[in-house]
Amino acid sequence: MIVPSYSYSPTGEKFKLPEPEEYLKEFDRLKEVVSKQKALGREIVVVMGLGFVGAVMAAVVADAQDGNGNPTKFVIGMQRPSIRSYWKTPLLNLGIPPVSSEDPEVPLMINRCVNEKKTLTATYTYDALKLADVVVVDVQCDYLKESLGNVREGQADMKALEESLEIIGQNISPETLVLIETTVAPGTTEQVAYPIIKKMLRKRGIESDPLLAHSFERVMPGKNYVASIRDFWRVCSGVNEEATRRVVKFLKEVINTEKYPLTVLDRPIESETAKIVENSFRATLLAFLDEWSLFAERNGVDLIKVINAIKVRPTHSNMIFPGPGIGGYCLPKDGGLGLWAYRHIHGFEDEIFKITPMAIDINDTRSLHVAQLTRDALRNMGRPIASAEVLVLGASYREDVGDTRYSGSELIVRRLTEMGAELRVHDPYVPHWWEFEKQDEYPVSSHSLKRFFRGQEKLKDLRVERDLQKALNGIDAVIFAVRHKYYLNLNPEEVVKMAGGPMAVIDCFGLLDDNKIKRYFELGCEVKGLGRGHVKRIKDQVRLKTQKVGLRTKD
Ligand SMILES: NC(=O)c1ccc[n+]([C@@H]2O[C@H](COP(=O)([O-])OP(=O)(O)OC[C@H]3O[C@@H](n4cnc5c(N)ncnc54)[C@H](O)[C@@H]3O)[C@@H](O)[C@H]2O)c1
Repeated sequence: MIVPSYSYSPTGEKFKLPEPEEYLKEFDRLKEVVSKQKALGREIVVVMGLGFVGAVMAAVVADAQDGNGNPTKFVIGMQRPSIRSYWKTPLLNLGIPPVSSEDPEVPLMINRCVNEKKTLTATYTYDALKLADVVVVDVQCDYLKESLGNVREGQADMKALEESLEIIGQNISPETLVLIETTVAPGTTEQVAYPIIKKMLRKRGIESDPLLAHSFERVMPGKNYVASIRDFWRVCSGVNEEATRRVVKFLKEVINTEKYPLTVLDRPIESETAKIVENSFRATLLAFLDEWSLFAERNGVDLIKVINAIKVRPTHSNMIFPGPGIGGYCLPKDGGLGLWAYRHIHGFEDEIFKITPMAIDINDTRSLHVAQLTRDALRNMGRPIASAEVLVLGASYREDVGDTRYSGSELIVRRLTEMGAELRVHDPYVPHWWEFEKQDEYPVSSHSLKRFFRGQEKLKDLRVERDLQKALNGIDAVIFAVRHKYYLNLNPEEVVKMAGGPMAVIDCFGLLDDNKIKRYFELGCEVKGLGRGHVKRIKDQVRLKTQKVGLRTKD
């Protein structure tokens, strides 16, 4: 007897995976709806991969309309029916986004396109590709690191992408435009995708060249999620003249290129390189301040004030304090794809990359220093780190979003756990921290950062506390790890009262101004912060004042 398999959404809904006999029926459903949509003059677009990018890109395309307000595209979101991801298909077909978002436009747009305009559907069958005029590829291309803080020891994980490309080549018609949006190792479109698709077409007796193009996403899954896809500048390039003509036409029809003009580059490798350089530049900018942050801590300097003093110069206005490491899906991996491509796609042996890997390595390990600051602050209070109750405020990788991928907070939790502390976590945007709750299977067991630390088993039971009072009650240390708005206005009296007494306070992101730092010291707390060497001065002033008051009362 075959036991049916189920796929569970993050909120626990259970969906049975399709049985083999359901595939034909599903293809019939698609053929019927596509023939009606074609009769309405709409182009059929298959978006492959309904993740953070594909789900919202699919909705943006499905929402596109002509000057008279008539939809111009019909979109089929195609998600492979794996146990991990199948749930995205039935959920999207109900008009519910398969990604969480702080942008209210995401659920509105998906519901509108699925249930009102009826320009968006989702499917699990690869046969959908047979119906496509355009295929947009939004599957992942990960970079697997084999050690912590050494990106050189790693490799691009091309499996999902290469599989997708084969399937595309087996199914599309020769006139279909294939647009790769995935961030790839530079050279992939021409040297990996093109031969794979061409070979598949040849096997089917099709002699024409694949129409292949690349245009990377600059999506930010936060408050402006939709706008970051639709109302933002794009770069694109095709493998030949026809592919370039088609990709320009397509992007002009679905994205606001009037206000945000397209940049068309000569070759896909230039578009691919643009994405990797763009993100490596940002990663480098962030990593740059790490050494100055340590300098500041050891020499009585408040780096936050220093940065603000410098940023008044317009040439330096994008200087940015890195906080406890740089997370998100893209910045920690994209430079690695560049290094890997140089050797494994283009065949060079020498090491030309110095700054890009160094920046990634610094960013990947910066948060470990937070564990040291916590240890030292507790030591100054006469409390050992082992079995101390430590609360981390903020689980996501940046302020006011719920995305926890590769967040600095994850490493803080892992290192402190290794050092024997008991961890708690609070985040108003994150209901479940899957990197811990499902650390054996999410993102994939072999990717979990758990593998770089000891004693991590109990972290499966770590739950995000939504009630701040409960989270703070009885703690020995609190770590302000993310600049969520919610934490900016917390006053020291309230925090110490909720904790039930003084504790160690660690500021990772310049959340505390000098008055708050002073107040924490007055309340008997110990304060430390990334890049905040001046706290010692504030501490000495408070202690001196307390001593003077003590002497006066003795007199
Ligand atoms: N998330 C971001 O903020 C962001 C920003 C810019 C660029 N990007 C890039 O966009 C790409 C996609 O990122 P993401 O965040 O959406 O990834 P994701 O992991 O959330 O989504 C990828 C989806 O593709 C699906 N998939 C894999 N193989 C498939 C197949 N053969 N058929 C159908 N579906 C398949 C997966 O199941 C998953 O649902 C990556 O290259 C990423 O670097 C992401």
